[in-house]
Amino acid sequence: MKRFLAILMVTVLALAGLATSALAADRVGVLMPTQSLQRWNQDGDNMKSQLETAGYEVDLQYADNKVDVQVSQIENMLLGGVKVLVIASIDGGSLGTVLAAAKDMSVPVIAYDRLITGTEFVDYYATFDNYRVGQLQGSFIEEKLGLKDGNGPFNLEIVAGSPDDNNALFFYNGAMDLLKPYIENGQLVVPSGQTELAQVGTLAWSTDTAQARFDNIIAANYADGSTKLDAVLCSNDSTALGVINALTNAGFTEYPIITGQDCDKPNMQHIISGVQSMSVFKDTRTLASKVVSMVEALLKGSDPEINDTTTYNNGVKVVPSYLCEPVFGDASNYKELLIDSGYYTLEDIGQ
Ligand code: BGC
Repeated sequence: MKRFLAILMVTVLALAGLATSALAADRVGVLMPTQSLQRWNQDGDNMKSQLETAGYEVDLQYADNKVDVQVSQIENMLLGGVKVLVIASIDGGSLGTVLAAAKDMSVPVIAYDRLITGTEFVDYYATFDNYRVGQLQGSFIEEKLGLKDGNGPFNLEIVAGSPDDNNALFFYNGAMDLLKPYIENGQLVVPSGQTELAQVGTLAWSTDTAQARFDNIIAANYADGSTKLDAVLCSNDSTALGVINALTNAGFTEYPIITGQDCDKPNMQHIISGVQSMSVFKDTRTLASKVVSMVEALLKGSDPEINDTTTYNNGVKVVPSYLCEPVFGDASNYKELLIDSGYYTLEDIGQ
């Protein structure tokens, strides 16, 4: 009997041990910049659910676009024992010190969508082909205005992204490498005179900031009733929304060509009603699944899949990257792109 009890005890302890080790899933820290923009909520949700499905415990935090908040979230996650950090930064250049602590604790770091710059302590980067996003926007304007056929002059204004976000430069360059020659030869005119990234950037990609700048641009350059605004190169949907608000408040009923990015819900409504011209669809589900497989590889001690080892130099090193493909989206293909793929329901975009 004693022997039986002893065996029973050992078995129970062994099973308890098994259960505990099964329960003690590796914890992954996921940091997103803000909840104020639709895409980051989707990114956060996708990351959390896909990581949980893969068997990990997830600590997901949003930082309200505040760098100091994001830094202390990273510190807390490290103290809490995360095994990998996935970070969509606010200011890509402000994380060096806290990531040195991650390195000391042997916690690998994946930069999510936005490159982390000025530090060696970032291991991998997963994003979309950001230069291509800008090319999709620039070539749309080129085609719609018939610039290749020599048409013009047309009036263009430029509204770019947040200067502290490395992506903003790639979007701007992708579009401007195509459009600058037309500015130089006079087919495109920028009445505000603001063309450099330092002049056209929008801190924190804020809709209100973009709107305030565009209110001024309209008042100073398009209020005479005869100067036509033909196109606005907007780097993303939140800035496009600011431009649309400014134009609407100024009484515009015919809208210029307006580009965007992200296929945000309010912007899709504007695209369907003909106010905004296009957006760029970046399927956040695909990005999340790539990052989840990177996390799995790192935790298994193998090499994550990458497809780019040249583009993303963060000032200290070229960060091995996986680039997902961005896709052009407008009123003609949104159903196939967004509805049939299950990304949105028709109700989501007011249809
Ligand atoms: C992302 C864009 C987004 C922007 C504002 C960028 O880093 O790549 O998709 O529109 O941030 O949140």
